[in-house]
Amino acid sequence: MTSLSAPSAPRIDHRTDPGPVLGVTNQRPRLSWTVASAPEDYVQSAYELEIVRGDEPMTWRVTSGDQVLVPWPGAPLEARESATVRVRVQGSGWSQWSEPTTVEAGLLAAHDWTAKFISPVGIGGLRQAAPELLGVFQLPDDIASARLYATAHGIFTARLNSRLVDDTVLAPGWTSYHHRLRYRAYDVTDLVKPGRNELTAILGNGWWRGRLGFLGERAFYGDRLALLAQLEVKTSDGTVHTFGTDGNWHARPTGVLVDDIYDGQTTDLRADTAAPYESAVEEVPTDLGVLVGEDGPPVRVTDTLAAVRVWTSPSGKTLVDFGQNVVGWARLYARATRAGTEVTVRHAEVLDAGELAMRPLRSARATDTYFLRGDDEEILEPSLTFHGFRYAEITGLSDIRPDDVEAIVIGSDLQRTGWFDSSHALLNRFHENVVWGMRGNFVDVPTDCPQRDERLGWTGDIQVFSPTATFLHDSSGFLTSWLADLAAEQERDGSVPHVVPDILRTPMSSAPAAAWGDAATVVPWVLWERTGDKDVLARQFDSMRAWVDKIDAVAGDDLIWRGGNQYGDWLDPTAPPEAPDRATADPDVIATAHFARSAQIVADAAQVLDRVNDAAYYGQLAERVRAAFASEFVTPAGRVLSDAQTVYAIALEWGLLTDTAQRRTAGSRLADLVRAGSFRIATGFVGTPVICDALMNAGYSDLAFRLLLQTECPSWLYPVTMGATTVWERWDSMLPDGSINPGEMTSFNHYALGSIVDWVHRRIAGLAPAEPGYRTISVRPVPPRGLTHASARHRTPYGEASVSWHRDAGTLTLAVRVPVGSRAEVELPWGAGTALVGHGDHTWQVEEPRRGDRPMTTVRDVIDDAALWRSFVDVAVDGGLASSETSAARLLAPHLDRPATELLDAVWTRSWPSDPAKARLADVLRPYLGHVEHAAQPDLEPTGV
Ligand code: BGC
Repeated sequence: MTSLSAPSAPRIDHRTDPGPVLGVTNQRPRLSWTVASAPEDYVQSAYELEIVRGDEPMTWRVTSGDQVLVPWPGAPLEARESATVRVRVQGSGWSQWSEPTTVEAGLLAAHDWTAKFISPVGIGGLRQAAPELLGVFQLPDDIASARLYATAHGIFTARLNSRLVDDTVLAPGWTSYHHRLRYRAYDVTDLVKPGRNELTAILGNGWWRGRLGFLGERAFYGDRLALLAQLEVKTSDGTVHTFGTDGNWHARPTGVLVDDIYDGQTTDLRADTAAPYESAVEEVPTDLGVLVGEDGPPVRVTDTLAAVRVWTSPSGKTLVDFGQNVVGWARLYARATRAGTEVTVRHAEVLDAGELAMRPLRSARATDTYFLRGDDEEILEPSLTFHGFRYAEITGLSDIRPDDVEAIVIGSDLQRTGWFDSSHALLNRFHENVVWGMRGNFVDVPTDCPQRDERLGWTGDIQVFSPTATFLHDSSGFLTSWLADLAAEQERDGSVPHVVPDILRTPMSSAPAAAWGDAATVVPWVLWERTGDKDVLARQFDSMRAWVDKIDAVAGDDLIWRGGNQYGDWLDPTAPPEAPDRATADPDVIATAHFARSAQIVADAAQVLDRVNDAAYYGQLAERVRAAFASEFVTPAGRVLSDAQTVYAIALEWGLLTDTAQRRTAGSRLADLVRAGSFRIATGFVGTPVICDALMNAGYSDLAFRLLLQTECPSWLYPVTMGATTVWERWDSMLPDGSINPGEMTSFNHYALGSIVDWVHRRIAGLAPAEPGYRTISVRPVPPRGLTHASARHRTPYGEASVSWHRDAGTLTLAVRVPVGSRAEVELPWGAGTALVGHGDHTWQVEEPRRGDRPMTTVRDVIDDAALWRSFVDVAVDGGLASSETSAARLLAPHLDRPATELLDAVWTRSWPSDPAKARLADVLRPYLGHVEHAAQPDLEPTGV
């Protein structure tokens, strides 16, 4: 029998630091643990926490089955206080104690800081070289430990005695600086020494003072760079020696002549590294009340990729391909080059006619320049910028070999928590592209794209992507922090800015926009569902409610949200390149649907938080909005205004249609639209994440799979066939002829349209949360025909869960792993049964029902038979009846209900007089339809294609 293993060392809130967790500002951090294995009948009945503060261990025994985010039992931590925490759990007996976790509080209030923000005087101005600041300290002999607390206006790279204080980059990242400026606590015990110590920091413009947004603005947060650093060194007698930034520091210019996130960095490597610090600094009055600690991991270098190819472009430029669209920078190793040589590296995501395609970057120059020292070997890389690129163009160095250059990948250092695999190579690559898209766009802020003059926290993008994000990587701390920014930036009247941090700040950029502002309600709810964090709901509740109240006010008495500046079903494939909001779905339908959905989320959140009155109020509001939606936009039979795939998908999935007959009509209409669209995607940001759920739940799984596995443009897999290594902003960012979409908004690394993989995890592999935090797991795979296996793994808060199925000779084997503390509700495919299972490994075998020959009754059935449809299209195109699959589908669309035997008559007109073609079509259909009549041509008017 499996024995009960000791729990894992407790996790502190959402922090994932491998060692001691420093700089914690939640004085009562919540604790979580996992249990690797336990006897089959194990259920946690109690846990015991031991917390050592100072010398005294204290223990708390709690009768509870909880193991995720349990409350801190003791007195709140005080500033700088350190504690070690361990846990053991009780089943039929007690487990061993876990390994301890050390948690240490950071500086908690403005008065904990004696350091002052300082800025250099006379150097380090807006268009001057990046400054470096120096502070000198004398330390005694018996150093026990040392902490550095630091942040900046701008981004900084700090060194203690010439060694980097840690491995983070772009510190302190990007938050809504004027409301929340993050600092970090560093353990620098190993970097300090008795006697003289030097602390230096280079300051870059970063988000504080660099260019931000597509309007060309600079210095959004201020025009001076400044550093705040406080070093606290404890000696063995317990005395704390504190040194901080103050007027005694000095500064000098560095060889970083230019630095900008969009435009790149210019570095003169000849700059004298021994130059004296001759400039004075001065204190910059700053409200230290805005300082906050870290919720999630910082930005780090997370990967290094070798160049896969170096070659000469048609115009004679040296190009490098890294084989993967990434975010970071190129590092070059230059050998024995003449001093003063100018080397330039330009970055781009794609090539155009064999040359670097810079147009999609718009005004971002994405160019790093170096003036070399002339040493035998020089390493060229920036530290105060980043780019989104797969290709680099290098000028100024000759004979570059692949070994001389590599791509440095950066991003918020999130733990990977989700994996998917299947027998479908293109689908797997698409999934990989989604993962890379997330890595590149989770750079402290969830951004739309990482390469052009934008890279902003567009709320709509993360609203749709958050379920996928929380599966793939542990995004809990990252999104918790971003949501705090969202709440801080929200207007008093509840409006949510379209980007957070809000740097657009125009009345238009915070005028309520559906799907974008709904990030205020959806993202906290997703975090609750995926992590079980109730506190995030509690913290965001006022923000969530304010957003719904705002829409309520905008909608007015009839509860229909009309007009305004809506993005609508942004970027559906019918929207013209220059007008991404001109989608097929009616914007009022989309807006009002979001109103109903968000009101319901607020009601549900209130329920979780035991806010009874709020739950009742918003529940009724949601109910009334649904009724208003139905009476304004839905016909009695179930058609929805604008008759677009997106409006049916959201009406079905968000519970806006309650009448069974209406739901049936809406589902079948959605299915017919998908058929008429020949399984090319027809949705934008709003419809894309829900379309496959809607089809599947309405009983049209096969159509959902055909949509998912489509490779023609527009579709999810089309970019993969074009060599994409990330998800594109547009369905056709690159056109089928290899040219770049003419729209001025054409990124090759946007995660929004990748949000479908959440459905792939939940319904193809079959792994989803059934209760918040995966306390109960839902296992409901629906195996698509054509896939022989699929699997998903996820590190839930309880430990790793997995679902995997494979087919073999008509038998499907399903294997499920449930972590200790969780359980799974299993629904076997093809109605083969259900099960409720506890932790451990479980397998089932299911005989796959033979798909008897489906009756070919109507024209619709012809389209639904993928093989027949393929042959029909081939012959129809060949014989001139249709110009493409799309036009063939459009031709059949008005005749879906006609008997299949009449198909030829239905679509035949005088414009296609070719009898041989008709005969061939009849041949294609005959095996399916039996005898097909194609006698004399009836007298039909041409309808055109
Ligand atoms: C961004 C989008 C964003 C949109 C909204 C674009 O420029 O890249 O992803 O959501 O603007 O207008």
